[in-house]
Amino acid sequence: MSLPETFHALYLEKGEGGPQVQIGEVPASVLPGGEVLIRVAYSTINYKDAMVVKGIGYRIKDFPFVPGIDLAGTVEESACPDFKPGDEVILNGYGAGELFAGGYGAYARAKGEWLVPVPDGWTARDAMAVGTAGVTAMLSAMELERGGITPDSGDILVTGAAGGLGSMSIAMLSALGYRVVAATGRMGEKAYLESLGAAEIIPRAELEGGPDKPLMAQRWAGCVDAVGGKTLAAVISSLDQRGVIAACGLTGGNTFTASLIPFFLRGVRLVGIEGGHGLIAERREAWARISRTLSREVLDSMTTDAALGDLPSLADEMLAGRIRGRVVIDVIA
Ligand SMILES: NC(=O)c1ccc[n+]([C@@H]2O[C@H](COP(=O)([O-])OP(=O)(O)OC[C@H]3O[C@@H](n4cnc5c(N)ncnc54)[C@H](OP(=O)(O)O)[C@@H]3O)[C@@H](O)[C@H]2O)c1
Repeated sequence: MSLPETFHALYLEKGEGGPQVQIGEVPASVLPGGEVLIRVAYSTINYKDAMVVKGIGYRIKDFPFVPGIDLAGTVEESACPDFKPGDEVILNGYGAGELFAGGYGAYARAKGEWLVPVPDGWTARDAMAVGTAGVTAMLSAMELERGGITPDSGDILVTGAAGGLGSMSIAMLSALGYRVVAATGRMGEKAYLESLGAAEIIPRAELEGGPDKPLMAQRWAGCVDAVGGKTLAAVISSLDQRGVIAACGLTGGNTFTASLIPFFLRGVRLVGIEGGHGLIAERREAWARISRTLSREVLDSMTTDAALGDLPSLADEMLAGRIRGRVVIDVIA
């Protein structure tokens, strides 16, 4: 089946007080150029998606605009030798849902060089349960390894623990043999976080005020940080000698002030993780490792299902920090 003149989508239209969310048909002309046409089956919601859907922090120029930074589906047409009709593929980021039409529509178009095959034995839904959050979690784990942090090095802190990136990081790091300490504002989710593999749960209030002094007691060999702001400054001051922080998120603030002393006296290393862009070879490696590392049982336990029509309320919940784990969006339902 080739591309119809219009297709079903959740899209943004220009409105008085900012973009307005609508659900209905959009013209096929909203799709960007690209060698591969994909029939989208599933997408998901990431923090970035919530911001786009709510018109926060993004200046959309061309309407109607289809958000959704992640998608998985079946190749319909391909001018790229690496993919043929019928192949199941994943797109994470590269501007989808931010700069051009993304995963909240029944069709998408992309460059072949951005696509990753759905891992053997996995479904498109599984792939979206992982999403950019999961890719970022694995890229973070790979960065800790690159920095020489092994399970014998000590505890790994995961902040924003009950969210998507946090849940993914706990599950993957514990499966890789690390002892994971989860920092959360939702102590009521203790049992959930333990079920993912967290060995210890601490209240995020311990960190969110920032450090009292440049060098605090050394507590963690590494950290995957989804929060940023003062929390990140507190982690920098509490890291072990030559510890590594994978800086991923900004739910607690997109700037921070920190002392340089831990960098000079403890050799602390702060590494940024580009989960939405970056080298495709690294991302394909991340997907291969995810499919070997992450138990499908654990993945299912952190995932809920929803439809396009649920996205506006899910975006509100996500920005308020109330979504637990991952949400898969059935684009066809
Ligand atoms: N670097 C990348 O490429 C990349 C990729 C994916 C995501 N991200 C970023 O990572 C962050 C998390 O994304 P996500 O998809 O996991 O979002 P999410 O599911 O909404 O999780 C965010 C979590 O952060 C914590 N949190 C929320 N508001 C907070 C606040 N004001 N202060 C401290 N903690 C707060 C909450 O965890 P608790 O309730 O457990 O405290 C919340 O569940 C976002 O900033 C996102 O943009 C970056």
